[in-house]
Amino acid sequence: MVGIATAPGTESGQFLRDLWYMPALASSLRSGEMRREMLLGEPVVLGRLKSGEVFALRDICPHRGVPLSAGRILDENGAEGSVECSYHGWRFKRDGACSKIPSLTGEEGLDIEKIRVRAYPVREQDGLIWVYMAARPGEAPKSEPPRPGVSHPMRWTETQRFLCGIDHAVIGLMDPAHGPYVHAHWWWKKKPQVKEKHYAPLPNGFVMTAHRPSKPVYSVLGDVTTEITFELPSTRFEIIQGQLFGAAFRIVGMTVCTPRDAENTDVIQVFWWPGWLNFIYPFFWALGPTFIGDDRKIVELQREGLKFNPNLMLIQDSDQPAIWYHRVKKAWAESVENGTEFVNPVQERTLRWKS
Ligand code: FES
Ligand SMILES: [Fe+2]
Repeated sequence: MVGIATAPGTESGQFLRDLWYMPALASSLRSGEMRREMLLGEPVVLGRLKSGEVFALRDICPHRGVPLSAGRILDENGAEGSVECSYHGWRFKRDGACSKIPSLTGEEGLDIEKIRVRAYPVREQDGLIWVYMAARPGEAPKSEPPRPGVSHPMRWTETQRFLCGIDHAVIGLMDPAHGPYVHAHWWWKKKPQVKEKHYAPLPNGFVMTAHRPSKPVYSVLGDVTTEITFELPSTRFEIIQGQLFGAAFRIVGMTVCTPRDAENTDVIQVFWWPGWLNFIYPFFWALGPTFIGDDRKIVELQREGLKFNPNLMLIQDSDQPAIWYHRVKKAWAESVENGTEFVNPVQERTLRWKS
């Protein structure tokens, strides 16, 4: 076994650009509401116009810096809505263009449309709000946000704030060797055994291909297979498929790590399943927060060591997903910086470890 130091240039302060991040659930933002959402260390005002449309702007008024989120949303008599700053009443449309400066008399000859606040592309879909963090402000998205591929509404969700940078949050969730220690509950624990899992590359990450899960809690669903994907910047899908009472089903879980800043990351977990499977809800309600809380508490403990900036190790094969994460992240950062095409460095492979 070889110790591998954490790849340079992937410290938690470095966030990937030209990707979609998920700061909020759609249901958390009512019509006419706005609020400040920190994203990658930037203040973003996320709001919903009275028409229902969601927008995201830099939460700093270009006049004198007051957060736009402290202002209000205006209807503008059926015309496109705008945000009014609470300091001097400057107005900005959802594309970031200034639409009014109340103190102007009209004699100044100032072209107010040229005054702009950064606008971020947003998408509202599958009950989720996604914001695109372009490397260069104003650039159009080069991709669309990931989708769960389900037709039913989301059934269960849980958000917890992890006091760590995005890398430790992501790695903590994909690392297979911590299970017997961090999640030592009877419904998750099994006597450690040698595992063999097959991995393949995905466009922006990798997948642990479909396999029979070993954890006891899955047995309520009968005989199932599960497939776990990871793609940049921090999206994990778990797709559980099986048959119950003679009907085929598909449960989709999504976990995103949303970096608020270098030291705070929200872990947001969402599950979709067909309505007739609602009897599984109590399991999620009872076990879900505990499970994510286990991962949150261990990174809080880890912080006590990381304060001293130690050199860390990643070992074969149980840390291989973490090694891939660093490599994929580095390759993405370089492709954005150099304007070259991203080439996924992950190769198809079977990993073996004991857990
Ligand atoms: S600071 Fe926003 S209008 Fe003056
Ligand atoms: Fe975990």
